[in-house]
Amino acid sequence: MRFADRLDRIPPFFFTELRLKAERKRATGVDVIALGTADPDVPTPEAVVEAMRRAVADPVHHRYPHTRGMAAFREAACAFMGERFGVDLDPDTEIVPALGGKDAVHHMALTCLGPGDVCLSPEPGYPVYTSAPVIAGAEVAYLPLVAANGFLPDFDAIPKDVLGRANLLYLNYPNNPTGAVADLGFFERAAAFARRHDIIVVHDSSYSEIAFDGHRPPSFLAAPGAREVGVEVFSLSKGWNMTGWRAGWVAGNAEIMARYAHLKPNVDTGMFGALQTACVAALTEAVDFPRQMSALYRKRRDLMIEALRAAGLDAVPPKATPFLWVPVPEGFTSSGLSDLILERTGVVMPPGIAFGASGEGFVRISLTVPDDRLAEAARRIAETLDLAAPAGGAVA
Ligand SMILES: Cc1ncc(COP(=O)(O)O)c(C=O)c1O
Repeated sequence: MRFADRLDRIPPFFFTELRLKAERKRATGVDVIALGTADPDVPTPEAVVEAMRRAVADPVHHRYPHTRGMAAFREAACAFMGERFGVDLDPDTEIVPALGGKDAVHHMALTCLGPGDVCLSPEPGYPVYTSAPVIAGAEVAYLPLVAANGFLPDFDAIPKDVLGRANLLYLNYPNNPTGAVADLGFFERAAAFARRHDIIVVHDSSYSEIAFDGHRPPSFLAAPGAREVGVEVFSLSKGWNMTGWRAGWVAGNAEIMARYAHLKPNVDTGMFGALQTACVAALTEAVDFPRQMSALYRKRRDLMIEALRAAGLDAVPPKATPFLWVPVPEGFTSSGLSDLILERTGVVMPPGIAFGASGEGFVRISLTVPDDRLAEAARRIAETLDLAAPAGGAVA
């Protein structure tokens, strides 16, 4: 058989591999605690489930949906964007439902990129910021995110020849995997940079609703100039515990949205109407649910940070996202620590290097397991680090 070579240019999806690794460990009788993906352990809010139950029985939803989405969905999403972020969108031209943030990120690459183009992708970062442009036939130029810059990209460091060919920039705040947040000032600078160099911005705001200590992450679209150059991807997965449902949207610049709406019916047939109805319930009846989840993650964040500190690891508490980005102790690589902890304790924590070269020196911990399991994972990690430490106590 002869296959296209594009898949040879992307590694197997890291989290699929990690899940298999955990399953193999579990099959040997080990009590595995997976702190790998951000897949919430708490069910979807009942109002959403109930709306879905009712809608699924309605024959109107049993026929093909329209890829542009139902008016009720687009209007509810626009009302949410207005109230939550102060962003005023036209439901007819500036928003389209997406089958989750991942689809949206991928389809924006197909919309904007072709052979010879360059995509600017943050690293460490969500692996789809690499695979989507490569599948679209483009090259990827990485923007390193480092602690010294608050995990924000340095646009001035991008080489001129790369800038000349770049026409898509992915941004993602609150950020996976670092947990960093961005303010409107950064988004304004990003929009100005994009306008100067004729680059389309796709801001992935999949984690905007999980935030702590009074922080409310802003929308890229609220920044001056943003809507002239870009769009934003929104997902219901994390805020409303709907990872299995595959629901989100893309919103912003009408010209980009028109191109996206042109692509969509050629690659999928839109979002199940009953699901769109359930999303409306999420955005109206359960609109405050993400705050409850944020309160839960904040408690878990503090529990894990305290346990790590007791073991000598000084992780900075993030202001958003269900992730801790934890510096590894002296003498370990990120993979070395991740493998050691999995081997000795059955706790799965992805190594930073899996998210890109600048992720070396960190592991990522996801807080999406029940409190007692997280406490147990913290205990096992601390115990292993204590044992691995030089005589005299915790690792430095
Ligand atoms: C940064 C980022 N974007 C998008 C997604 C995809 O989310 P969804 O479930 O909406 O496809 C994830 C999932 O973990 C993510 O981390």
